[in-house]
Amino acid sequence: MNNFIFNNPVKLIMGKGTIAKLSDEIPAGARLMVTFGGGSVKRNGVYEQVANALKSHDVTEFWGIEPNPSIETLRKAIATGKEKNIDFLLAVGGGSVADGSKLIAAGIPYDGDAWDFVVGTRRITRTVPLGIVLTLPATGTEMNRNAVISRYETREKYGMTAAWPRFSILDPQTTFSLPAKQVANGIADTFVHVIEQYLTVAGVSRIMDRLAEGVLLTLIDLAPVILAADANCDATYNARADFMLSATVALNGFIAMGVPQDWATHAIGHELTALHGLDHGHSLAVVLPGTMNVLRASKGDKIIQYGERVWGIASGSRDERIDAAIARTETFFRSLGLTTSLGEEGIGDEDIAEITRRLESRDIALGENGDVTAQVAKRILDDRK
Ligand code: NZQ
Ligand code: ZN
Repeated sequence: MNNFIFNNPVKLIMGKGTIAKLSDEIPAGARLMVTFGGGSVKRNGVYEQVANALKSHDVTEFWGIEPNPSIETLRKAIATGKEKNIDFLLAVGGGSVADGSKLIAAGIPYDGDAWDFVVGTRRITRTVPLGIVLTLPATGTEMNRNAVISRYETREKYGMTAAWPRFSILDPQTTFSLPAKQVANGIADTFVHVIEQYLTVAGVSRIMDRLAEGVLLTLIDLAPVILAADANCDATYNARADFMLSATVALNGFIAMGVPQDWATHAIGHELTALHGLDHGHSLAVVLPGTMNVLRASKGDKIIQYGERVWGIASGSRDERIDAAIARTETFFRSLGLTTSLGEEGIGDEDIAEITRRLESRDIALGENGDVTAQVAKRILDDRK
């Protein structure tokens, strides 16, 4: 096991009716800006619950943070925040609203352009405190300090270290209104977060392996229950709650202690989103089987462990077992209703060439061994045609 420091300061408030607790968490005299996406919260009653909880607060609203939040929109929110002298932020929505708000939190006290933080030419030194009301289980952003920010004019998308939320409120009832596609994206994203921290080197940590496998098995159990046609009702509350907590646990550091991490699938997936608008979780379902196949030599021992413990694949030659584990993974994504090849999304050779060019210009060295170069990424994408 590698040395590590674990420190996660986020207060997690979870359960039915917990949005009402907002007023306990935000100081009464705060100059508060509440950020939203495109309006789902107006249709599912979340906005009303937030407004009721904040009746006695001075609130500025900022609407329109898009899926894959753009620096172009976030600059406008930062300008509003500066103008109104905002000293507390509350993000209400999915991962995009939360991530965007993390950058807004850093941008308000900064004199330059917040894009500097995304590309790493400036380090964040001050942030406005941020709370989150999460409505989409997927990213883990509610309990980590990451943000993923896009720049639409250049079709770029990058992950960054941004800011810890001070608290996050998770009421699983808010997820009842999610369209099936977003549930599928959320399950795939959570699954691949675990894989990025697990499917690396065998024999490093028994406890991390068992925790990771536990989250994967939970998702496999939950998926058909949550995706059933009549799922949006109280009967599935516990399944929704488990899904929401799984997404949090998958990317809040709990399964990352002392183990190597990969993240190549994510980096390649971000390019598919930036160039083709593929939803984030969906992009991972397309890429992951290729990562597993192309890196079968270095990841083989762990893929075999995964195949046996998660999918019950206990016989066959080494290659047969790896093939079967990849096939079961792809079948799982398809059972969520997601496509898993580039061809099905109209993405072809020219697009792969463009992504390879972009990754070459950034001189990437991804994966737990730093051996996923632009050319290896190309092989992974070629595998998914
Ligand atoms: O914008 P609104 O109208 O709110 O609608 C959203 C959006 O259209 C809708 N939605 C959210 N909650 C809903 C709902 N619709 C009905 N009922 C609800 N309860 O869902 C759509 C997608 O929302 P979005 O926030 O974009 O999805 P997600 O949570 O999957 O976030 C994706 C973003 O997070 C980044 C991704 O790259 C992408 O930019 N990630 C962030 C990470 C992190 N911070 O640690 C890690 C991840 O790997 C990921 O990269
Ligand atoms: Zn992800």
